[in-house]
Formats: sequence, C-alpha cells, structure tokens
Amino acid sequence: MTMRAFIAGLPKAELHLHIEGSLEPELMFALARRNNIAIPFDSVEAVRAAYSFTRLQDFLDIYYQGANVLIHSQDFHDLAAAYFDRVAQDGVVHAEIMFDPQTHTARGIAFDTVISGLLSAMEEAEAKHGITSRLIMSFLRHLDEDDAFATLEMARPWLDRIEAVGLDSSELGHPPEKFARVFAAARALGLKSVAHAGEEGPPAYVVQALDLLAIDRLDHGNRSLEDAALTARLARTAMTLTVCPLSNLKLCVVDTMDDHPIDRMLREGLRATINSDDPAYFGGYVADNYIAAAEARGLSKDDLVRLARNSFLGSFLPDDVVADHL
Ligand code: HPA
Ligand code: ZN
Repeated sequence: MTMRAFIAGLPKAELHLHIEGSLEPELMFALARRNNIAIPFDSVEAVRAAYSFTRLQDFLDIYYQGANVLIHSQDFHDLAAAYFDRVAQDGVVHAEIMFDPQTHTARGIAFDTVISGLLSAMEEAEAKHGITSRLIMSFLRHLDEDDAFATLEMARPWLDRIEAVGLDSSELGHPPEKFARVFAAARALGLKSVAHAGEEGPPAYVVQALDLLAIDRLDHGNRSLEDAALTARLARTAMTLTVCPLSNLKLCVVDTMDDHPIDRMLREGLRATINSDDPAYFGGYVADNYIAAAEARGLSKDDLVRLARNSFLGSFLPDDVVADHL
C-alpha cells in the first residue's frame, strides 16, 4: 500500500482550516466572473505564481484580497462545498472550520450572508459525504477589541451554530491579552475558544493564550518548544496543538520540511495534530500535510495513527462520539 493510500485510509478530523484559505484560484476566477469583481491576475497560473511568501504578513495580504470575490451566500456555500468534496478523498470525517467574519463585514457583506452559506454547505456535506463539522468564528487580531466585540454581537442569533471563537491574522504586535475581555464574554455565552499562538510570536504569547484567553486548543504553537517549562505544561495538560506542516514551510516558520518539529512534539508528549491551515495557498490538503511531514521526518505508521487519533481527542465532539472514532 502506498503511503498516500495508508494516510487517506486513516479516518481523521481536520481542526485547523480557514475556509477562506481553501479558495482555489479556479473558483476565485469563476466567482470574480460571476460577481463582476476585478482581480489583479490574468490567469490561474499567475495567481499560483504569486503565492510565494517569506512571512505570515505576505500571505495575509494576498489571502484577504482573494476573499473579495465572495459576495453572496451561494459563494460561501460553493467555497465550503468544494472543500468538503476535496477532503472526502483524504479520509476527513469531521472538520472544525474557521471563518473570518470581519474580512467580509468590513466589505459590507452581512454576517448572515457568510454564515448561512457556510452552514448550508456543512449540512450538505454531512448528507453527501458523512462528514460532520463545526464552525469556529475567528477574530482578526490586527483589528481592535471593539471590532471583535461588534462581531460577537452579530453572531448572537447564530450562537447555537457556532462552537468556538478563534484568533488569527498578524500575530506579532497583537498579543492574546488584547482580546482577554472578548474571549471572556464569548466563554460566558457558552462558546469554546482556540487561538493562533507561537506561529511567529514568542512562547510568551502561548502562555498568554492559556492564562488570559483560557483556550481549549492551541493553533500552531510551534515556538512553545523554545520554552521547556511551557512544553512540559502543554504535555501535562494534554493541550491539543493544531500543527500545519506545509503552512510552516510556505510561511518560513521552518526553513525546510526536514527541520519540522512534528516528531519532536510527539516525543515530548504533546497532543499534536496535522492540518492544512490554508490549503489553496500552501500547496496541499490534509493528507498532503501528513505525507510531507512523514516523508521528511520519517514518521512511522504508529506515529501517523497517533496523529489521526489525536485529531479526534482534540476535537470538540462529545466524548461518546470521540470514542466511536478511536
Ligand atoms: N496565521 C494567522 N492567521 C491566519 C493564518 C495563519 O496561519 N491563516 C489564515 N489566517
Ligand atoms: Zn491558521
């Protein structure tokens, strides 16, 4: 059996996926045409050629620009439906999907337009592929606290359809403490929480995410390894890390895949998982991420099984459903 067949055959959950980051250039062009939106590229090839990044901000600039073609509820539906159709081939049976409402509301797109399109695709994916899913509403950390609170307010009619809040966008200079109050308000409304930390930011940002945001799961977390006490704490508390190998490579969090710390994370006892982050921009969906990490770091079949099991243990599914997946 090939490595791809083995990996695709492992049932898995994807826990770190920005739905806007699954916008493939072909769909970007189709939506630009459908919605009469000008995009600064002549061809699908030109779009792909522009995806060369040296740091997180390079990517974010082009990622927010790409999202401009998303206007109608149907567009958000088509975006998410394409993601589910694609990952059904990768053995994904459950996905916890982040969306960035502020990327759209700042352009005059209604919150309800965004979420209704995503939810209808999620329902369709369960019927069509048997893939279950949850939504994580992420706040853009380069915007201020008031903007995050306004977004939480817009989400109120939809709270029973949102599992958690998250924190993404430009990490450096926007520490978790900036959002301590809005995360507390979200928790009081019954939402769980996740945050990107330790991708480009220092270990101290991870400590803030734990202590000040009370996160249930850590997105990326790579730089935690620079702090032995923090690493031990993450292991002891069984904190799930949603690691994204191809993203780390494309955004120069690691210089080469050979330098990726995924095997070290497992050795240190961390509950690491493998995810795709923004697959249309980083060159691969979740199985591609497992393969890239496995080939570069010599992961064993036992390691791959452990990573897939961790994805259910780290999910927000109820315990009895998690047990059914293990
Ligand atoms: N980091 C921060 N913000 C993001 C990312 C990421 O990897 N992907 C989409 N928004
Ligand atoms: Zn991310």
